Amino acid sequence: MDYGSAEALKNIVTVLSLRKFKEEREKFVTVALYDAQMAAMAERCGVEVVLVGDSLGMTVLGYDSTLPVTMDQMIYHIEAVARGNKKSLIMGDLPFMTYADSAQAMSNATRVMQAGAHMVKIEGGAWLCDTVKMLSERGIPVCSHIGLTPQSVFKLGGFRVQGRSDEQADTLLKDALALERAGADAIVLEAIPSELGKKISDALSIPTIGIGAGAETDAQVLVINDILGLTPKPPKFSKNFLVEADDIPGALKKYVNDVKEGRFPDDHHSFK
Ligand code: KIV
Repeated sequence: MDYGSAEALKNIVTVLSLRKFKEEREKFVTVALYDAQMAAMAERCGVEVVLVGDSLGMTVLGYDSTLPVTMDQMIYHIEAVARGNKKSLIMGDLPFMTYADSAQAMSNATRVMQAGAHMVKIEGGAWLCDTVKMLSERGIPVCSHIGLTPQSVFKLGGFRVQGRSDEQADTLLKDALALERAGADAIVLEAIPSELGKKISDALSIPTIGIGAGAETDAQVLVINDILGLTPKPPKFSKNFLVEADDIPGALKKYVNDVKEGRFPDDHHSFK
């Protein structure tokens, strides 16, 4: 396959496309990345959703967590990614404490959308329903993010798997349903048992995007630095695809194909 020059992604991806993928049980692929060239490569390799994640604090900027990331840093990288990719749906994170109340969320989500994103992502459960409703009613698509929410790493006591007890699993399922009712268009499920990933995905009409949530979510997301083996201590759920490829586009294309054809994630990259 000529992944280097072929325009693998034929059409512009929208929130409606994501719903359709779910309805038609077609897995879609998300990659967190931060610059124009990687964004262009993702388009050529058929990546449907590009996430400009606040993980850039740990990958690009060298912080120990995502907490120091600022709105200005997010905007800088969202603008770069938007210049490089004209077909994928671009999702932009709101960083730590930039959506602590609805008014703050509104003005920061506006900045993210005006920088070139098509959807904002915010971390948290049912407490964010009013914010999700307000953004959604005003025309801003929202992706929620539950499970291991890295902005709460100090509250969670570390980067730990969530939802292992029945009580925690029940709360996560209720959070997901409440966020969907509030108007979320998608939801990231991070580091939860595969069985719970499936249960939440089955219960929702909006697509779930899993990272360490098993093979049964509607889509998968990985960070480009993990895909390319750049992360010194990668999380269990990530995989270095470069070791099985000839070059960087080959690694990305392998990730895309392995997700779409159900080879990734396997049990080694999931939690019980
Ligand atoms: O910031 C990020 O890249 C993320 C993904 C890991 C889901 O939130």
